[in-house]
Amino acid sequence: MPRPARHVFVCTQQRPPGHPRGSCAAQGSTAVLQAFWGELQKRQAYEAVAITYSGCLGPCDGGPNVVVYPEGTLYQRVTPADVNEIFDTHLIGGQEVERLKASGATW
Ligand code: FES
Repeated sequence: MPRPARHVFVCTQQRPPGHPRGSCAAQGSTAVLQAFWGELQKRQAYEAVAITYSGCLGPCDGGPNVVVYPEGTLYQRVTPADVNEIFDTHLIGGQEVERLKASGATW
């Protein structure tokens, strides 16, 4: 397997209802993960991009959270509608999606 140029981690952490930290899953991250996998399949970009679900990345209240390596870019409040732009602009184009980036105080 060739090493992908970029690796996307989508937080799919779940917590019980009423938990004080909430969770990305409760904020819709499963649909975001499915959108990333769907876009990966549509583009057949398996040698360029890897998509992996993860546990908690830390800043739960800004979820759904997505981090992209090697840059270590954290995107917050990602929705399925954002996934195509992240692919085009960052995963393929190499430029971060500024409007979705976490603030400097967060990450
Ligand atoms: S639950 Fe997703 S960052 Fe904590």
